[in-house]
Amino acid sequence: MQALSESLRLDGKTIGLVPTMGALHDGHLKLVEKAVKRADIVIVSIFVNPAQFGPGEDFSKYPRAFKSDCLKIERAGANIIFHPSVDDIYPPRFGTYIDMGWMGEMLEGERRPGHFKGVATICAKLFNITKPHFAVFGQKDGQQLAVIRQMVRDLNFNLEIIKGPIVRTKEGVAMSSRHAYLSENDLVKAQVIKLSLELARRLIKRGIRSASAIERWMRKLIESVPGVKVDYIAFNRWDDLAPLKKLSGEVMISLVVVISGVRLLDNTIVKI
Ligand code: PAF
Repeated sequence: MQALSESLRLDGKTIGLVPTMGALHDGHLKLVEKAVKRADIVIVSIFVNPAQFGPGEDFSKYPRAFKSDCLKIERAGANIIFHPSVDDIYPPRFGTYIDMGWMGEMLEGERRPGHFKGVATICAKLFNITKPHFAVFGQKDGQQLAVIRQMVRDLNFNLEIIKGPIVRTKEGVAMSSRHAYLSENDLVKAQVIKLSLELARRLIKRGIRSASAIERWMRKLIESVPGVKVDYIAFNRWDDLAPLKKLSGEVMISLVVVISGVRLLDNTIVKI
């Protein structure tokens, strides 16, 4: 893969990478389409990365659909599928990991210790192997996008990180491979996630700047739906994820709700 990318670069081709763990949905395909518009060659990686799953998480159960993924990727116009084995990526005696510090220990990182160490490490490896000029990450995993952007800044990786849109189901739920674990009724309940983000935007428009006041309103709305629990609601500066009490500048409002044991992430980025 490295030799192929190197020769494509020598031929003057622009390479875009879309890293995925497979089980592709329309959200992933939008990222591929975005990459296709900007690059001569688009590489989609499919690798379910054991290093980002904690003990008791769903690594072995994680949905895998390699054949149908390949068809979808081809139809979306990408050129190369990079699908390494776990042994290719983590051979015996592998021992170097990237520690993202506090940025990787807050929010999702607090609930899933070691998760961002695994994400940062695999992304660093994928960047070194596929040598892209840019890589596209979806906004749905907002903290992941911010962590990778920070890693690229901190370690001087020579590529651009591009934000892809949040793609939603007809109910308005941010697309996720974990929808495979939800019933139709769960998805209907999950509509409240987007409604709560819209409520936050309306409150901000009315001049409310207190994170705790907005959080209270969002919780009240979400918890009015039976069977829907808030894990957290957070307000962070988009540039570096610094937690905010008073909202100003570019702010990411993110939340996780739990429905039928499945954690659903969503966020919106507001300019104030
Ligand atoms: O978002 C994902 O699917 C994964 O975290 C990623 C970026 C492919 C790294 O394994």
